[in-house]
Amino acid sequence: MRPPAEAIGALAQVVGGIALLIFLGVEGALIYAVWRYRSSRSSAGEPARFERNTRLEIAWTAAPALVLAVVFVLMLGTMAEIGGAAVEPGLRVRAVGHQWWWEFGYGGVTTANELHIPIDTSVDLELTSADVIHSFWVPELGGKRDMLPGTTNHLRLFARRAGVYEGQCAEFCGVEHAWMRIRVVAEPQADFDRWLGSQAQPAATRGDDGERLFLANICVNCHAIRGTVAVGTAGPDLTHVGARTTLAAGALPNDVARMRAWLADPQQNKPGALMPRVPLLDPELDALAAYLASLK
Ligand code: CUA
Repeated sequence: MRPPAEAIGALAQVVGGIALLIFLGVEGALIYAVWRYRSSRSSAGEPARFERNTRLEIAWTAAPALVLAVVFVLMLGTMAEIGGAAVEPGLRVRAVGHQWWWEFGYGGVTTANELHIPIDTSVDLELTSADVIHSFWVPELGGKRDMLPGTTNHLRLFARRAGVYEGQCAEFCGVEHAWMRIRVVAEPQADFDRWLGSQAQPAATRGDDGERLFLANICVNCHAIRGTVAVGTAGPDLTHVGARTTLAAGALPNDVARMRAWLADPQQNKPGALMPRVPLLDPELDALAAYLASLK
């Protein structure tokens, strides 16, 4: 069975082809009429007159209805194909929309904003939301589907080639809707297995100032770092936050300096984000940023 994005692309080409034929037919008829009934051919400068033509009226009513019916049937076939009810998924991932970030769960492994998938594998996303309606959309890998609180929707993704695919929340969900980016890293099965294996490890105990600050502040109310006492679930799991390429669902590239700027004032970097500003001294910010960045 074709990958969902290829099935959608093929349908778009068929519909585009039909639209092109109609366009050429209508423009051709228009040009013919202008030429055929030009004023130099009419008798005594009188414009051409036309009587009612029942057969023509029936034809131009029936033809669009027929075109719509054909497109409708083709679309039903494509929807059934991209739904992939007959395809046994090689991987299931839980995807939860939050204001304004994404949670991805692989069994006991939880991560955020960057979805890793193996190539040449049918991936079943179990979509839901923790708050309002979001919509998951990575155009190159599949269709678009809403994430609804209290409901699980399914979306099939399939990547033929390794690479990074960009996506975006596609349902207006509040002030930071635009900064709800998705990055999908598609990689060969062996690389994916290595990544998942490292994500499954708890964070090593550092015993440094950054770790102490994290565990002593309100950070732990919202965030989890597996291997520590922090088990909050309102914000992204930070067990391996240093291994991700962006912060705040794509708002910032991930490095120590940006991590520090984000901690110092989230609202400056992503206005409206639910992450509060924690009052910390400069050396405390340095230590906390260094600690989080070290969680690879
Ligand atoms: Cu989430 Cu828009």
